Amino acid sequence: MRMRFKNQVAIVTGAGQGIGLEICRRLALEGAHVVLNDIEVALAEEAAEKIRKEKGNCLAIGGDGGDVNFIEQLVRETVTTFGKIDIVIANAGITLFGDFFDYAPDDFNKVMRLNLGGSFFSGPAGGQKHARSKAWWSYFIYVIRNRTSGTQKSCCVWNEQGRIGNAGKNLVIELSPYGITVNAIAPGATATARTKSDPEYENTWSRITPIGKPASTNDIASAALFLVSPEAGHITGQTLVVDGGWTSVSPSPY
Ligand SMILES: NC(=O)c1ccc[n+]([C@@H]2O[C@H](COP(=O)([O-])OP(=O)(O)OC[C@H]3O[C@@H](n4cnc5c(N)ncnc54)[C@H](O)[C@@H]3O)[C@@H](O)[C@H]2O)c1
Repeated sequence: MRMRFKNQVAIVTGAGQGIGLEICRRLALEGAHVVLNDIEVALAEEAAEKIRKEKGNCLAIGGDGGDVNFIEQLVRETVTTFGKIDIVIANAGITLFGDFFDYAPDDFNKVMRLNLGGSFFSGPAGGQKHARSKAWWSYFIYVIRNRTSGTQKSCCVWNEQGRIGNAGKNLVIELSPYGITVNAIAPGATATARTKSDPEYENTWSRITPIGKPASTNDIASAALFLVSPEAGHITGQTLVVDGGWTSVSPSPY
């Protein structure tokens, strides 16, 4: 097992299950001290306990990853406990379906507040105050990485199609002088407990994805870990699409 993140401190939001949990697990198994957040406190505790059972170092902090005050508290508690922050991944995100013509403003605001606002405000909270170098971002996951040794970098990966990509480009200009890189991950269909609650999910996406299957949480976590690793130190303002080729053809699942 490589230990690319030994003694690094990482925050991952919305990580009680699915992609976020796998990112936490992989970071912890590669030596990071991981702060695992979820709005469902019990789920966060349970997930952190699973990682500790695998000998990973993981602390659960429950709370709303879309709430600016909570994000600041999360950052403060992390610094108090571990003394620094190297990586922040704003993975928390929701999908609310609805007809365009009837889409409820409250639903729109909920999605924007968490998927875009949560990612956006994790940047300054983790990046400017405590991280000192590189940020990466991603369409669906926002990560800040802050190296306190060597060249001092932090990385952000985040998650909100399109808007996040554009915001990342702008953040590059603002954050590069601080040595912060910003990149984005755009996951395609990914098999999780949530998505697999649709019994047709895997069959449908296997049929319309050139590689022949939806992503696993491990596939997305591998991309996130690459973006926060030293190997990606010269990559900034980019979006990494991890979709098994789906965007080359883009057939609708419906
Ligand atoms: N699974 C996919 O196919 C897919 C594809 C593209 C993008 N994404 C994005 O990747 C991210 C992870 O997706 P997933 O499928 O693993 O999600 P998931 O639904 O399996 O898990 C998300 C977790 O976030 C938590 N959460 C919800 N609101 C929160 C909040 N306000 N604060 C903190 N935690 C909160 C939930 O309790 C849940 O445990 C999301 O942002 C999602 O939009 C997923």
